[in-house]
Amino acid sequence: MATEEEILARLKPGCICKGIKLHKILAAIEDGATSYEEIAAVTGIGGGSCKSRRCRAKVAGLLGESEPEPEFDF
Ligand code: FES
Repeated sequence: MATEEEILARLKPGCICKGIKLHKILAAIEDGATSYEEIAAVTGIGGGSCKSRRCRAKVAGLLGESEPEPEFDF
């Protein structure tokens, strides 16, 4: 039986632009991915209309990294 945390991870968004749920990102990390690029390669996150800003920040938090500086388009 799935824990409450696992159920929530199946429902929560991981990459909103691509419609990929959080549990896919968590599974990639469990399988040994240690960077955003590795996780993106495995899960397909990134490259959406936000230019990866949202999911990159989420992955940074999951990996215990500081969030990347926001990019501004002027
Ligand atoms: S949330 Fe992942 S590319 Fe926008």
